[in-house]
Amino acid sequence: MGFDVDDVITQGTTDELARLVVGDGTWHTSGVPRLKVPRVRMADGPHGLRVELGGSLGESAPATCFPPAVGLASSWNPALLRRVGEALGREATAAGVDVVLGPGVNIKRSPLCGRNFEYFSEDPLLAGALASALVYGLQSTGVGACVKHFAANNQETDRMRVDVQVSERALREIYLPAFEKVVTATQPWMVMCSYNRLNGPLVSEDPWLLTDVLRGEWDYTGVVVSDWGAVVNRVESLIAGLDLEMPHVLGNSDREVAEAVEAGQLSRELVELSAARVLQLTHRVADAVRDDQPVDEAAHHELARQAAHESMVLLANDGVLPLAPRAKVALVGEFARTPRFQGGGSSKVNATRVERLVDTLAARRQVRFAPGFLLSGEPDDALVEDAVAAAEASDVVVLCLGLPDADETEGLDRTHLRLPEVQRALLVELAQTGTPIVAILSNGAAVEVADWADDCNALVEGWLGGQAGALALADVLVGDVEPSGRLAETIPVRLFDLPSSLMFPGEPGRVVYGEGVFVGYRGLDATDRPVAFPFGFGLGYTTMRYDDLAVKVTGTPASGALRVSVQVRVTNTGERAGCEVVQVYVGNAPASVPRPPRELRAFSKVRLEPGESRTVTLPLDARAFSFWSEAHDRWVVESGVFTIEAGPNSRDLPLSQELRLDVPALRVPLHAESTIDEWRSDDQAWAALLERLPEGASFELPPEVLAVVGGQPLRRFVKFPDMPLSAADVDAVLAAYGG
Ligand code: BGC
Repeated sequence: MGFDVDDVITQGTTDELARLVVGDGTWHTSGVPRLKVPRVRMADGPHGLRVELGGSLGESAPATCFPPAVGLASSWNPALLRRVGEALGREATAAGVDVVLGPGVNIKRSPLCGRNFEYFSEDPLLAGALASALVYGLQSTGVGACVKHFAANNQETDRMRVDVQVSERALREIYLPAFEKVVTATQPWMVMCSYNRLNGPLVSEDPWLLTDVLRGEWDYTGVVVSDWGAVVNRVESLIAGLDLEMPHVLGNSDREVAEAVEAGQLSRELVELSAARVLQLTHRVADAVRDDQPVDEAAHHELARQAAHESMVLLANDGVLPLAPRAKVALVGEFARTPRFQGGGSSKVNATRVERLVDTLAARRQVRFAPGFLLSGEPDDALVEDAVAAAEASDVVVLCLGLPDADETEGLDRTHLRLPEVQRALLVELAQTGTPIVAILSNGAAVEVADWADDCNALVEGWLGGQAGALALADVLVGDVEPSGRLAETIPVRLFDLPSSLMFPGEPGRVVYGEGVFVGYRGLDATDRPVAFPFGFGLGYTTMRYDDLAVKVTGTPASGALRVSVQVRVTNTGERAGCEVVQVYVGNAPASVPRPPRELRAFSKVRLEPGESRTVTLPLDARAFSFWSEAHDRWVVESGVFTIEAGPNSRDLPLSQELRLDVPALRVPLHAESTIDEWRSDDQAWAALLERLPEGASFELPPEVLAVVGGQPLRRFVKFPDMPLSAADVDAVLAAYGG
């Protein structure tokens, strides 16, 4: 490589270093031509490469469109994600792209978020594990990943300005762990900060998030880049830890940075720190060993097909699937001819080819196609009549329903979870024919199905399947491939069952995450709501049995070395091969803070031949039992009886075993506003306080009095008349024992 990082830092002028911390145009870093520092090239992902050929969000070069994250996540298969990452890396290499801007690991706080199709799950463990595998695969090819949008970017409404008001506990337990996992497991070359504000400051100017947490706690060494246009004040953002502003036209922020250094408002060392990170990235790019064979488009199309096999989730099936070999099929729905296979916005890929169910199913079964409805949503009686006639003349209806393109795009959130009215009306008409119906959904996030699912004999949640989705669908419908996807997000009965729904997308400029950690199944379980299909759910064409749960514990939470090994035996009891995603949840013990009834803590996908049994071992550590204690500013396990639960989904956990953990109670630091109850639970401080009582005086409070005053701050209570202690006594003890 033609440059040395330290030399560039010493020899670079302030202007040159200031240029390094801003981009050059939309997709490049700036480089330093005088010192032979080249530019680094970035391009959008995450489920396919988007190398723009012209203007912003305009035409892009053809690339393989893999299933978006909503689909990939339903695979629950890290090995698959890794292969997709490798393929992305090969395509990036061929296109001369150094860093792919993805994956996005934001949590699906509400199914309404317009970018949920780009995100993995409502559960941080699943999102983190799958995204890490994709990043690992991508970076193994010598191309960088850029995990985004860090953090708490969970809606599109007012995304560039909204202040997300969320407790630190919810951040630590729900919104940050997927980032933490990707960062600590894979050191992505870049992390993209989000547009929004977080509890006040813009994320792009938030030193707590960008420096204290990301670098201080997670040891991140790569480059923090702004989301495109996230920077308001370049100097403030640099101070907070944002290394690279994108996009940028040279002569703007670079000048501000250089002038701030000249004026003594910003230290040159700080600019050097970020410039050095950009230089290290540039080095990484130059040193990467890459396989620059031409891309095998057909092989990537085939991988997209395999990924789509595992992306779809069979939600219901009365036996109509797989389709009988001689079945005459009425294939109804415009989506069979005009597939929806990805969402809108910066992730939109110009697919190398696109499969259509009208072709892929017609190659396997006798098919009569009827569009049934207009994608525009206008009622059209002639289309309905034609579809009904097709249904009447067929053995089975395969009905392609879904959301129109405009409903799911970056920049907009949905306002409800219903399918378009014309599609529901069509289903009613078709159901009256009596011909069995297999409904297939194309959508990037949950829709309400409870009102109409019973009219269908089978229901396949196809999500957005990428360019080969229709090939994969045909494979699954005819039974050449077993359905093996599982829901990475709950399908609620109604939107308003979700605790977040009253607080999404908030008010102008502000959204309060009042539901705290009760996101997705955590909230639905806590409020005991029925769901249409639970988190983790999915059927195959075979049946599975779970038995022999064994839980082995070594170490203790106090020593920090708690290890719990969970073993489960799964048996394929059916006549076809199939996959099972073994899921382990920890049912939380009652704690000093409200905790979700259960949380996913481990999973493993296995494939079993008919009659085959496999013992699966899943490890848990102390974090699986912990919550984030705001009082102690760290992860805490409290004593209690936890339940280890294993099974096929969050609401079907046939195996369970209790596990008692004993942990020495942590002292809650006392302060001026600590209550009488809190003081009494601190033996030492309470004894020290009582020692200050005047000779013969007592401070005993009978139970009925304590019931009333136990929650009052002691320091205020002792100011009442006739108290044997004073505020000065409280202060004296606080000086010795306070937090
Ligand atoms: C999106 C990012 C994307 C960037 C570049 C932004 O609007 O939020 O996800 O990578 O544009 O296109």
